[in-house]
Parts: sequence; C-alpha cells; structure tokens
Amino acid sequence: MIKKLRLIWFKSFKEYKIEFEKNSNVIIWENGKWKTNILEAINLICDNSQISSSFENLINTEVNSFFISGIFWDKNNLEQEISISYDKESKKKKIIINWKATTKSKLNEFSSKTIYFSPILMNIFYFWPSDRRDFLDNILSNSFSVYSKILKNYENIIKNRNKILKNINEWNSSKDELNFFDNKMIELSKEIYFYRNDLINYFKKNMQNFETYFFWKIKNVDFEYKTKTKLDDIENSIRKYLKENLERDIILKKTQIWPHIDDFSILLDTKEIIDFASRWEIKSIIIWLKLIELKYIEEKTWNKPILLIDDFLSELDNKHKDILLSEIKAYQSIITSINKIENLDENNIIL
Ligand SMILES: Nc1ncnc2c1ncn2[C@@H]1O[C@H](COP(=O)(O)OP(=O)(O)OP(=O)(O)O)[C@@H](O)[C@H]1O
Ligand SMILES: [Mg+2]
Repeated sequence: MIKKLRLIWFKSFKEYKIEFEKNSNVIIWENGKWKTNILEAINLICDNSQISSSFENLINTEVNSFFISGIFWDKNNLEQEISISYDKESKKKKIIINWKATTKSKLNEFSSKTIYFSPILMNIFYFWPSDRRDFLDNILSNSFSVYSKILKNYENIIKNRNKILKNINEWNSSKDELNFFDNKMIELSKEIYFYRNDLINYFKKNMQNFETYFFWKIKNVDFEYKTKTKLDDIENSIRKYLKENLERDIILKKTQIWPHIDDFSILLDTKEIIDFASRWEIKSIIIWLKLIELKYIEEKTWNKPILLIDDFLSELDNKHKDILLSEIKAYQSIITSINKIENLDENNIIL
C-alpha cells in the first residue's frame, strides 16, 4: 500500500506531495488538473509498464530531469521507500530502494503491484491484437518477475532473426544461420506459453462464474485464446510453420508465428463478444476481466495490489459502479474523479 508520494519536475508538477489512506482514496479535481499524472507516477514507481510513455516525456518541459519518491507499507506494515529519477542528458535512470541503488528487475521483485483501470480499457476488444497481448503480458510480468526477462529475450531473438531474414533476402546470409535463432525462439516460446497457459486456464475457470454474478441471459462465457501454435506440441508446430513459411518470411523479412501474434477473445454462447454483445454487456465483461486480473496477481504475489482507477467510474452506470466498488473494498484504491462519489466511505482528497 502506498502511504506518501513526492513528485519533483514530474510532468506538470514542480514539487508536489500527497498522502494516502489504507482504504479508498478519491482524488477529486477538475479536468486537465494532473489527476492522471499522479496515477502514472504511482504506476511507474511500482514498475507497471501498462501506461509506458518514454521516460523523456515524463520530464517537465521546463527542465531536464524528474524525481519521484514513494513510501509504501509492506505486508508487515513496515515502511519502505522507493525512488526513481531520470536525466535527459545522460539518459540515466536511477532506481533507489531504501537508500540503496538497484536495478529494474530488483524493483519489479520488490515493488507493490498496481492494477490500472482506465476508460481506454473499455475499447480493448476493438483494438489491435497487440493491445490484448499486452494486457495478458502485463498481468504475467506483474505476477512473475522472470516473465518480463523471458519476454525481453524473446523480443531480441525475433529482432535478430528478422535481421537474418533481411540478410538472406539480400543475399548476405545463408539459411543455415537461422538455425540458432529458430532453436532459441522455440525454447523461449515454450517458456512464454508455460506462463500464458496458466493465466489462460485461470481466466477460463473464472469466466464461468460470470453469469451468476451479473444475472445474465448468457449460459456460457468462455475465454478463447487464439494462436497458430499447438499448445500441446509447441516445438513441432512452430518448427513446421517456420519451415513451411520460410520463403514468405524471407520475402517479408519478418517472422510470422509465435507467441508474439496471438490474441484472445470472449465467447458468449460460442459467439464472438464483438459481434454479439451490447456495450453494457462488454463493459460487464471488461470489469470481470479486471477483477480476475486482480485475484490472479494477488494469488501469485501473495500481496494485495493497489488499484488505480482513473476516470473509470464515469464510464459506468450505477449497477456496474456498485459491483466494482463492493468488489474492491478490501483493497487500497486510488480513484480519480471530477465529482464526489456517492456510497463510498472514502478519504476524499479534494485538490
Ligand atoms: N512533460 C510535461 N511537462 C509539463 N506539463 C505536462 C507534461 N506532460 C503533461 N503535462 C500537462 O499535464 C496536464 C494533464 O494532466 P492529467 O492528464 O493528469 O489531467 P487530468 O486531471 O487527469 O485531466 P482529465 O480529467 O481531463 O483526465 C496537461 O495540462 C498537460 O499539459
Ligand atoms: Mg485524466
């Protein structure tokens, strides 16, 4: 849980301090008054990549560096301090945990986790597959610190494999040079699918409780993971596909199979959500997905995440609002709003 936040030259702030309570905190302020910037700073210090602007854009336009520091209560109610600074000229990021300089992966292991609710989320089923993949990968990176490392290695291998494809296309490399990258890619894909499978099964299991929750007319709600990879035979299916599509890959200079083009959808009585559901129903599903994300991260990290609810309630009708607010009662939440929120026993921070 976060106790205090201090921002220096972070986006719109020159110097700014804010304190939070352990339950719900509502930041009420008019439009364009830095509410989202506060949540973004908390997200950054908790190493959640979900809204990752480049560090350079986070610096106040008048200066060359920013500094953020946060004091958190850990599981044992002890205070822990994390700070992050970034300097534009040296391009150096500095991460400090309890007065000791450290690395990004240590921060990922140490920090509290955040769950970000933003109005943009309401369109997740209309976006590109990559946005939905990011949704899954972000949950996994927050749950297992090793997952972001695997993903980074995988992305590097794909980048290098694509370079070799380009070289083959231009007659500068031989096809044999792909072998190393193919093997490495398959090895890392297996690791990625090991984690994704766990999350997919968790969604599948928990989607089924959905209709009892929303008293809905749909009998079967299913989480459908879309992939060209055979998940029960990852190695052979990727190898076969790479072989069959080698010439096309060389022409396009691009690798076309993998965890990195997968997608997911929700089936309502076997029908695609996007072709079938109303906006209200889609919103219900999205809230449900986020609540499953919350439970998953809590189970895997043995820690309660901090909820950052940015302007999200304004998207919801009273029924959705009541469901969400009652589900999140047991968590520390930081909610932004331009109006006071009724039926919420909150710490109102009116700015
Ligand atoms: N790097 C920066 N330097 C200075 N100001 C910045 C920087 N980046 C963003 N801003 C300012 O921050 C403000 C936006 O703040 P923010 O998005 O937090 O507002 P908000 O309160 O969430 O508004 P809304 O209710 O409309 O969502 C804008 O006025 C923008 O000009
Ligand atoms: Mg905002």
